Amino acid sequence: MEVGIVGGTGPAGKALAVRLASVGLAVSIGSRSAERGEEIAAQLREKWGSQVADLRGASNEIACASDMVVVATPWDGAPQTVAGLAGLLDGKVVISMANALFKVGDDIEAVVPARGSLCVAVQGAAPRALVSGAFHHLPARALANLEESLDADVLVCSDHAAATKATIELVNRIPGCRGIDAGTLSAAAAIEAFTAVLIGVNIRSRSHASIRLTGLRT
Ligand SMILES: NC(=O)c1ccc[n+]([C@@H]2O[C@H](COP(=O)([O-])OP(=O)(O)OC[C@H]3O[C@@H](n4cnc5c(N)ncnc54)[C@H](OP(=O)(O)O)[C@@H]3O)[C@@H](O)[C@H]2O)c1
Repeated sequence: MEVGIVGGTGPAGKALAVRLASVGLAVSIGSRSAERGEEIAAQLREKWGSQVADLRGASNEIACASDMVVVATPWDGAPQTVAGLAGLLDGKVVISMANALFKVGDDIEAVVPARGSLCVAVQGAAPRALVSGAFHHLPARALANLEESLDADVLVCSDHAAATKATIELVNRIPGCRGIDAGTLSAAAAIEAFTAVLIGVNIRSRSHASIRLTGLRT
């Protein structure tokens, strides 16, 4: 299976790309510039060698030809970017990992985007895609280091059962990660906003902590 990452050249996209490539998936790091996408992919292949053998760079458009697509642009560019790619996303599972955050002094605060969450805005931008939300709480620093083991739950929400299932399966391929069905896209507002709390905790404790739910019967 191939996963394309729109805006894959930033810390979050690169980190997810190496993790997914390290479990044998073909990954395209998408960019507004195909050259930049390939440059970043080459750097990651140089760093991680055969562990990320099937990692390529591409334009965002080519990345959208993948079986599944992740949106990893900054929050204020996500709906507009997806709207421009919408024709390539019909019927595809599109995972939004964007968080609407704003730095206020030393604090990170959540911003309420149009439509209440970025996941809902992304679904609105690509109405025929099967949009899900996931990976919001995984710090890129931890995700990017293949020598560091992960220990995290990933909350997955979607209005499409098929997208929830496919996204949880993708999450579960990453060792140390467990995908959890967090309900419909109406959950995305809380999931995205909670990232501000988590980043604040991480800043104060100088950590790269994520979340784990306890007592869950699965
Ligand atoms: N960093 C984390 O730890 C983390 C964890 C979980 C979720 N997230 C979320 O993941 C998303 C990406 O985070 P990041 O830190 O990797 O972001 P970033 O570095 O600011 O941006 C990622 C990439 O998006 C592209 N981009 C920048 N501005 C754009 C725009 N206006 N329209 C379209 N594309 C644009 C750029 O790639 P090109 O110039 O190559 O196109 C950039 O390299 C954010 O929404 C963030 O909230 C981040």
